Amino acid sequence: MAVVPILKMGDTRLQRIAKAVPDAMFGGDALAQLIVDLLDTMKAANGAGIAAPQIGVDLRVVIFGGGGINPRYPDAPPIPFTVLCNPILTPLSSDLTRGWEGCLSVPGLRGEVPRFEQLRYTGRDQFGVAIDRSVDGFHARVVQHECDHLDGVLYPQRVDDLTKFGFTEVLFPELAGVVGDDD
Ligand code: NI
Repeated sequence: MAVVPILKMGDTRLQRIAKAVPDAMFGGDALAQLIVDLLDTMKAANGAGIAAPQIGVDLRVVIFGGGGINPRYPDAPPIPFTVLCNPILTPLSSDLTRGWEGCLSVPGLRGEVPRFEQLRYTGRDQFGVAIDRSVDGFHARVVQHECDHLDGVLYPQRVDDLTKFGFTEVLFPELAGVVGDDD
C-alpha cells in the first residue's frame, strides 16, 4: 500500500512529454510497484483514472476503470480495470462530444471538454501484453483525459467555453456529500 501525493496544476512535472516505458521494464518489479502506487493513490482519491506524471513519474503509463459505476457518471457503463503503457490513440471518426470532467490534479473543479466520441487505443499492459480496443463514450473520454497527461496537457487547456468551468460544489451541488473527488 503506497498512497503517494498527487501533483497539482502549476507543477511543471505535469507539463512534460513523458518518456516511453522501455522494453526492459515490462514484467519487472519497478513497473509493478508503479502500478501498485498508482492504483492505491487512485482508489484513495476515488478517481476514475490516474497517469504516472500525476505522481511525478515521467513514464507513459496510465491506469483507469475497475471501479464499477462512477457516481459522477451514473449512466456510463463500467470500464474494465486497465493498465495502459505507451498508448497510441486513433480517433475512429471526427465526431466530438462534450462532457464534464474533473481531475485529481485540479481538485474541486469541473469543466466541459470536447472529446472524440469513438477511438481505438493500442498499447501494452505492465507485462508487455498487447492491448487493442475500440471504444466510445465515457470509456473513450477517460482514455483521452488520461493520455493527455502523458503529453503534459490538463483538461482545463481543452475547455473551449470558460462559462462551463467552475467549482464542483457550485456546478453540481447534488454531488456534495456523494463524492468529493475528481478523475
Ligand atoms: Ni486528470
